[in-house]
Amino acid sequence: MKVFQHVQDLGDLSTALAEAQEVKRDRYQWKHLGVNKTALLIFFNNSLRTRLSTQKAAMNLGMNVIVLDVNQGAWKLETERGVIMDGDKSEHLLEAIPVMAQYCDIIGVRSFARFENRQDDYEERILNQFVLYSGRPVFAMETATVHPLQVFADLITIESHRRECNGRPKVVLSWAPHPKALPQAVPNSFAQWMRQADVDFVITHPEGYELDPLFAGNARVEYNQMKALADADFVYAKNWSCPGVTRPEDYGKVLDDYHTMMDWTIDQRHMDVTRDAHFMHCLPVRRGMIVTDDVIEGPRSLVIEEAGNREISATVVLKRLLESL
Ligand code: CP
Repeated sequence: MKVFQHVQDLGDLSTALAEAQEVKRDRYQWKHLGVNKTALLIFFNNSLRTRLSTQKAAMNLGMNVIVLDVNQGAWKLETERGVIMDGDKSEHLLEAIPVMAQYCDIIGVRSFARFENRQDDYEERILNQFVLYSGRPVFAMETATVHPLQVFADLITIESHRRECNGRPKVVLSWAPHPKALPQAVPNSFAQWMRQADVDFVITHPEGYELDPLFAGNARVEYNQMKALADADFVYAKNWSCPGVTRPEDYGKVLDDYHTMMDWTIDQRHMDVTRDAHFMHCLPVRRGMIVTDDVIEGPRSLVIEEAGNREISATVVLKRLLESL
């Protein structure tokens, strides 16, 4: 594997999930793979879980790790070609990428959607420049449109609880309100991965928030949230801004004042229509907006287990990338 961005990059998903179980049994058994190899983790945006879990995964595999916060201490980077650099940006990404590649063997990139131009975001301009110009294996640590390390961890978490369900688990991805415009990376990846997983998958959101078919495919969409949640085994809550599928001019917008959307906040009333579902969220989460305190703190909440499984998903992915060197 030279690039990790989409579920297909892992090949057979059940083999990858079995590998995750193997990592869980002993996460240090491939320590020889990373000796004298360096992972460079580049953050254009903030992070808690991705930063820590990916470093830990690299250490599990015996790697050295360099973390670069591009916006704190590095030269400010220009990312567009053909511009006259007479502003505050001192270095171009097209020099910076091959320079950074001199010092490492594998590169992880976090670069969120900018919401300036839908095409730029959905073409993954930043990530693809790393793929094209670094000459190194590259993996997404949440990019403009995807967050595969997160949803791989989420799927590992669902698999751990599959046996508690009565048959094939029903997994519901539910939009929830938020005061700020958030990217679509997590819901895009969640839809893409759940469509490949052995689950009954349903998406619920207010009209106008339809995910790009590239990720949602023919997944079932139910606009009535309560109807969607009925008999769910797993409720995955997440906010996302307008993906601009039907109205490109609305891309990246919050379509309605969140005060009018608080019925979508996951509370006990929502959980009561499920089949005693587990509550899931990628974190960080805004309590009182996405979910109420009692639900996230309750016995069916898996949010900490999901975060723990970030180390497992990252170990599998880095192991596969090391094996490709
Ligand atoms: N879920 C997730 O990626 O968390 P961070 O943004 O803190 O890395």
